[in-house]
Amino acid sequence: MNWQDKAHLRIPGPTPIPLRIQQAMSKPMIGHRGQAASRLLQECATSLRALFGTTHTPLILTGSGTSALEAAVTNAVQPGDEAIVVVTGAFGDRFAKIVERYGIALHRLDVPWGTSCSPEQLATFVQNHPRAKAVFLTYCETSTAVLNPIAELAKAVHDHSDALVIVDGVSCLGAVPCHMDDWQVDIMVTGSQKALMLPPGLAMVAVSERAWKRIEQQTQPRFYLDLTAYKRSMEQHSAPYTPAVSLLYGLKEALLMLEEEGWENVFARHQRLMRMTRAGLRALGLPLLTSDDDASPTVTAIDGRQTAWDTESLRKHMSEMNVTIAGGQQHLKGQIARIGHMGYCDELDVLTVLGVLEMACFKMGVPVELGTGVKAAQEVILHV
Ligand SMILES: Cc1ncc(COP(=O)(O)O)c(C=O)c1O
Repeated sequence: MNWQDKAHLRIPGPTPIPLRIQQAMSKPMIGHRGQAASRLLQECATSLRALFGTTHTPLILTGSGTSALEAAVTNAVQPGDEAIVVVTGAFGDRFAKIVERYGIALHRLDVPWGTSCSPEQLATFVQNHPRAKAVFLTYCETSTAVLNPIAELAKAVHDHSDALVIVDGVSCLGAVPCHMDDWQVDIMVTGSQKALMLPPGLAMVAVSERAWKRIEQQTQPRFYLDLTAYKRSMEQHSAPYTPAVSLLYGLKEALLMLEEEGWENVFARHQRLMRMTRAGLRALGLPLLTSDDDASPTVTAIDGRQTAWDTESLRKHMSEMNVTIAGGQQHLKGQIARIGHMGYCDELDVLTVLGVLEMACFKMGVPVELGTGVKAAQEVILHV
């Protein structure tokens, strides 16, 4: 049996879309310069403040998460500037590639994949590169299932430098706390298709006062990704170019759903899903790529380099049972398997993934006792 509409999509984005959001997105089209669109944009922007933890109005771009990464780079630094990029995996590496492509002198702080960057490490690096105009960080490094300690990292930067702190929050905003004003993060970006339970296509950017001062002085050419255009339009409750209206209807509904659940409950749910997944995999004797301290509440990685069997076969067997999990990226391709547990995901989803994973292991001849992983996860739910 392999019913397409009952597929269990457990990759770290795109993630499943709740029916409420699908219905909201199917509303009839409206003119993007009319009052209804203006109200919609304003409502979304207002609700987004809680997501980012800011009093400023976040901007909404039409584009995937990478458009927001590129917008952050091209607005905050310019050719000839120096910038630090902390690379804890494939998405830090993407920031580094964008920085280099724009002719910015790159100082790359490489951290072993599977671990987070420590504030001490970053503080030393920042002191060694005093001319850096910006420090680029990744909140959840999706490729390794690591959550970097953004509050501490931002502090480490500010203690030693005037560089802007710019953070990729694509794969965790909406699942973990974000207090960008309190943490003094200057630019935080995210995307629609992860914890926000939407299809791909929207990118959101929030900018501090300090960062606006820098952005407004920049002289390098930029057009679609010029954040000052989005800011000016947003002040008029409008967008500079045709916004993805249907996705905005979805975003409004998604933010309403998160508010209804309550932000603290949303964060607690993601913590629980992470603990269930990790307890289940551990009980089965499967090695995890990250430590408990570094683990992300949105994604968990099995380290296939430490197993006698192949994580790609595991994925294939699970996919035959209609559960899709992700593989690795770059040098971890074919080496790890990643289970997404963010957005429209609850305890029963994790029990399903673990149950199917156990059956896949059984079929592959991996010596696991059926039910062991599920039981460990049940115990997390039941606090036993
Ligand atoms: C942490 C992180 N940053 C950036 C991106 C890129 O986003 P997109 O693929 O939407 O361009 C992703 C997507 O997986 C991501 O997980």
